[in-house]
Amino acid sequence: MAQDKSLLPIGVFDSGLGGLTVLRHLRERFSHEDFVYLGDTARIPYGSKSPRTIQRYLAQNLAFLNHLSVKAVVVACNSASTQARFVESPVPLYEVIGPGALRASITTQNSRVGVVATRATVMSECYPKEIEKLKPSIEVFQQACPLLVPLVEEGWDDDPITNLVVYRYLSPLLAAGIDTLILGCTHYPILKKAFAKVLGGHVQMVDSAEAIGDQIERDFQLHKLPAKHDGRTGTFHLYTTDVSDTFEALARRILAPNPSAKLELAEI
Ligand code: DGL
Repeated sequence: MAQDKSLLPIGVFDSGLGGLTVLRHLRERFSHEDFVYLGDTARIPYGSKSPRTIQRYLAQNLAFLNHLSVKAVVVACNSASTQARFVESPVPLYEVIGPGALRASITTQNSRVGVVATRATVMSECYPKEIEKLKPSIEVFQQACPLLVPLVEEGWDDDPITNLVVYRYLSPLLAAGIDTLILGCTHYPILKKAFAKVLGGHVQMVDSAEAIGDQIERDFQLHKLPAKHDGRTGTFHLYTTDVSDTFEALARRILAPNPSAKLELAEI
């Protein structure tokens, strides 16, 4: 008998645990869907690695998720998303750059968009290229923020030191007159409060999680991706390539108030 694809889980992949911000959003929005999350915690950060290495890691992680039988994979990691077009996938692959660029191009009123991301994402120029395709008149200003991921992982999302670092990174973008800021890294939604303090009320933030959610919702509506309609509340499983108490504590913090954040080890 043919397998009912709608019942398969959606895979969510990130270089670490920051992608749980995307998982949290997708679970809230598509509460009947099952999810399986893979965080490559043994090899994080991807943001400082070369495109070739990121491609290799991405292909291995996709193979792991496909082995578990998923109906689609969301590449929550921006740094990995920059390489998504170079890897083959037997199931639909959702990357975050396109949807984030689309949302930003619709949001901006003054055609000046900022992007904060890892070095790998900034160097790839994926956001400026994607926005150029959508609306060539938009000017894009990029800023690599390599210090922000470690600060989030340390749990310093509400800390004067983090506020200072955020101020330092955002100042050139504010001086460029942006009215829209793409949070081009899985960890940055956790810093929304710190960003808002520096940005004030007149710069809109674009969150990858919401942008990718819009695209999946469209694909459900267009029946490009089969939605699960069995009335059962969705489940989720978390896999990481390395497990430690620190990782579990971080996962619990990001998924709060959901108490279940047990990490299973993925052998890749
Ligand atoms: N997940 C990565 C991203 O969104 C950030 C962490 C890393 O450098 O691997 O770009």
